[in-house]
Amino acid sequence: MTKKHYLLAIESSCDDTGAAVLCNDRVLSNVIAGQEIHGLYGGVVPELASRAHQQNIVPVVDIALKKANISINDIDAIAYTQGPGLMGSLLVGGAFAKSLAMALHVPLIPVNHMQAHILAHFIDDAGNEKPEFPFLALTISGGHTQIVRVDNYDNMTVLGETTDDAVGEAFDKTAKLLGLAYPGGPLIDKYAQQGEPIYPFTKPKVDGLNFSFSGLKTQIMYFIQKELQKNPEFVNENIHNISASVQKIIIDILMDKIEKAVRETGINQVAIGGGVSANSGIRNALLQQEKQKNWKVFIPKFEYTTDNAAMIGIVGYFKYIHQSFDTHQPLSKARLSV
Ligand code: KG4
Ligand code: ZN
Repeated sequence: MTKKHYLLAIESSCDDTGAAVLCNDRVLSNVIAGQEIHGLYGGVVPELASRAHQQNIVPVVDIALKKANISINDIDAIAYTQGPGLMGSLLVGGAFAKSLAMALHVPLIPVNHMQAHILAHFIDDAGNEKPEFPFLALTISGGHTQIVRVDNYDNMTVLGETTDDAVGEAFDKTAKLLGLAYPGGPLIDKYAQQGEPIYPFTKPKVDGLNFSFSGLKTQIMYFIQKELQKNPEFVNENIHNISASVQKIIIDILMDKIEKAVRETGINQVAIGGGVSANSGIRNALLQQEKQKNWKVFIPKFEYTTDNAAMIGIVGYFKYIHQSFDTHQPLSKARLSV
């Protein structure tokens, strides 16, 4: 029988405070406290985020332990997000995890947030199918847009990434132009489902497997300004079709690059991760490719797409069983590559 290892995981890279308890690769609890305060400012305010993490972290960890029905003394190791992310936010989770690990005399395991978005696919969830190595991962979030070749749990190579805005920023900044609340990505997704992509936006020309989204944002801004001059109600009257058009061009950009990556590497397993992978249009486009092009597509469960601590826990578990961690590493790193 496999020995049971209990792991507490903490995620605090941006504006969600998360704690999860895992027993080996199974999730016993996965708790998240969001921070509504940022909605007032139309984006994440780093200083407010770290203050909210400070308030949330103790109750969130407490609830995670209670939901998992285990005592803090049963924890074998503590994993936390080392980076990348907002420095103040990372420091709150990191300092908390380090102090608790010292008090409990258990190992402290630093985890890369982007690796966690990718390895979330290995959480054991009622016998779900998992990708086989090597596979390609498309990580799309509010802070990152990358195509990664994954050769093993700890061997990943970035093949392409954004040269400016992340795809989540493209959604959120466009949503802001349309007067939608932050974060606007889910709202654009919702409106797009009731509209038609009738406005033709153009794809940027970017070399290789890299992406660029800042030009698209400017293109959309000029388009809206021009239309508003003709009809001040243009956005209100056409929000569904505008959302569908914005979403379509973003999907086209992503699909072009992932298709190119599949062609160039000969790897046809594609896993998506990160908050934007919750987008229904992106999920459908990938499933269509799966049917038409003989790809194998892996889409995580909704609760493991946006930032969560369970994904930090699964990386922590792999590192724990391979004893591949160094507790003397610097606590938090705002910039960290996979
Ligand atoms: O991974 P995540 O929770 O946090 C970061 O690490 O950034 O991703 C958050 C991003 C936000 O930009 C949000 O607008 C976007 O994910 N997002 C979506 C959807 N759900 C979340 N974007 C488009 N469609 C969605 N359904
Ligand atoms: Zn993330």
